[in-house]
Amino acid sequence: MYSSSIFDSNFDNFSDKEPQRAPIGVFDSGVGGLTVLRQLYRHLPNESIIYFGDTARLPYGIRSQAEILQYVRDILNWMQQQRVKMVIMACNTSSALALEIVRSEFSMPILGVILPGAKAAVQQGKRIGVIATPATAKSNAYRHAILEIDPNVQVWQVSCPEFVPLIEQNRIHDPYTNEVARSYLEPLIQQEIDTLVYGCTHYPHLAPVLRSLLPSHVKLVDPAVHVVAACTQELDLLGLSNTHPPVPTRFAVSGCPQEFAQSGVQWLGHTLTVELVDFTDSAVSQF
Ligand code: DGL
Repeated sequence: MYSSSIFDSNFDNFSDKEPQRAPIGVFDSGVGGLTVLRQLYRHLPNESIIYFGDTARLPYGIRSQAEILQYVRDILNWMQQQRVKMVIMACNTSSALALEIVRSEFSMPILGVILPGAKAAVQQGKRIGVIATPATAKSNAYRHAILEIDPNVQVWQVSCPEFVPLIEQNRIHDPYTNEVARSYLEPLIQQEIDTLVYGCTHYPHLAPVLRSLLPSHVKLVDPAVHVVAACTQELDLLGLSNTHPPVPTRFAVSGCPQEFAQSGVQWLGHTLTVELVDFTDSAVSQF
């Protein structure tokens, strides 16, 4: 059961008659999707957005596919109730493990980050490193997507289990984070990669740390930029681009709203109004 929302009626008035004005739903396990949100603000300033962070159940990257599927279905059902016109899975782990399965279960278009990221990577280089959560790395989703587009490139993936907890705890500038990052990047630097893909939407938050450890010629690919380009195209194609002024972004989380409101200061430059969505009635989500 979902908590009732003070915003529930915000979009109802126009979502049927003027579907262009309906919001885009964006979700992640936590603050990672804010890297996608920032690109949406930059490139699609007319769009209204509902952002959901599944903070009660993060990190996703150490979960099984069955768990991720359940979480993603919970979120998409909720998004559908909010009458979104499109969803961006601002989460690589969900995109890798659930996107292909859930796409046919919902009527709204759903975009993932992996294909846009893979397409951008092959345009940048030939020796491609991917840093990702354990679940994304194990799925080989990036390797498959990249090699399908260009079988002549080489791909190395590194699983980075410690990054998401460190980022969620806002320990970006902690010397320990630097040491962890050095150990994750070491094998990729040894392979002389020319391109590095952020295979988790949390990782662009670590950009200053990663940039300082990588040789300067290594190009960084942020799939957030490219999923927003894909979103722009899709909205145009479907005649769903909004030309009216947007309503303020609505933020919701499954964990502590106050904590997430504080993260807004760090990553968006201002505190946020955040509501709580309770998925505890959902079968698999209780633990
Ligand atoms: N930011 C998400 C991703 O891109 C989820 C990370 C996590 O919760 O482990 O994979």
